Amino acid sequence: MTANFSGKIAIVTGGASGIGFETASQLAKAGCHVIVADINFDKATKVAEALHTDSIGFKLDVSSEENWIDVMTCAKETFGGLDILVNCAGIGFADNFEDMPLDHWNAMISVNLTGTFLGCQKAIKLMKKSEKPCAIVNISSIAGLVGGEDIAGYSASKGGVTMLTKSVALYCAGKGYDIRCNSIHPTYVDTEMLDPIADSFDSRQVMLDGMATQVPVGRVAVPSDISSAILFLCSSEAAMITGHQMVIDGGQLVGIPAQHTI
Ligand SMILES: NC(=O)c1ccc[n+]([C@@H]2O[C@H](COP(=O)([O-])OP(=O)(O)OC[C@H]3O[C@@H](n4cnc5c(N)ncnc54)[C@H](O)[C@@H]3O)[C@@H](O)[C@H]2O)c1
Repeated sequence: MTANFSGKIAIVTGGASGIGFETASQLAKAGCHVIVADINFDKATKVAEALHTDSIGFKLDVSSEENWIDVMTCAKETFGGLDILVNCAGIGFADNFEDMPLDHWNAMISVNLTGTFLGCQKAIKLMKKSEKPCAIVNISSIAGLVGGEDIAGYSASKGGVTMLTKSVALYCAGKGYDIRCNSIHPTYVDTEMLDPIADSFDSRQVMLDGMATQVPVGRVAVPSDISSAILFLCSSEAAMITGHQMVIDGGQLVGIPAQHTI
């Protein structure tokens, strides 16, 4: 894809790692001024510096309203506004439902759902002043479309992101704002988020091979599979797409796997 983002201003949350890192890199390469926003400020700053553009790192805890107000002020004062927001920061815990600690539940709702809500709300206030078309992309999950017996909290938080996205899309359209809002629903992506799961396997490759058996195309996703879709949804090529849930799962949710052993 050759979309030109020259001069556009973007905030990528969770930009220090995985999908967010790849997205920040691709947006910067395409000409964006990028704010790499992450709770891990040191890593965000190193990522921004390595982009060799005017991109900057910013310490943002997405669950903090105050932090969101600060990052919007930074976007306005440093670059003049905001055109693109990618809500990518996220956390996940797998738990037996009956034993799930309340703090796991609260943390996932707070970061994954409240963080995305705050980002959309604060971004719209700035984006509606932009003279360019604006786009918000929220990273949900296939777990935001279907449940999982050991990921009830994660799934609930990501399901909330799915519905929040549709409401934000309709809100912006209804107000006549040139702001689109879409969600992305990846299957497993080989990032640091999988590290705690990998610890319970003989090796990371064994884990990835096992996960790949659930994906019809035969592999898990890599960050660039997701970032390319994010860039498309942010681009003018996607001007008529809003409130959409884009599934990137190699066919995992499409249908029932063949039972060759029957
Ligand atoms: N990796 C997967 O298998 C997978 C699958 C579906 C969806 N997702 C979603 O994709 C998104 C990106 O995940 P990833 O795989 O790149 O994970 P990752 O762990 O590589 O990156 C997540 C980033 O979010 C940051 N972060 C965590 N809490 C934060 C907070 N409170 N405020 C700001 N930043 C915070 C982390 O520091 C990290 O840099 C997440 O929303 C995740 O739920 C991941």
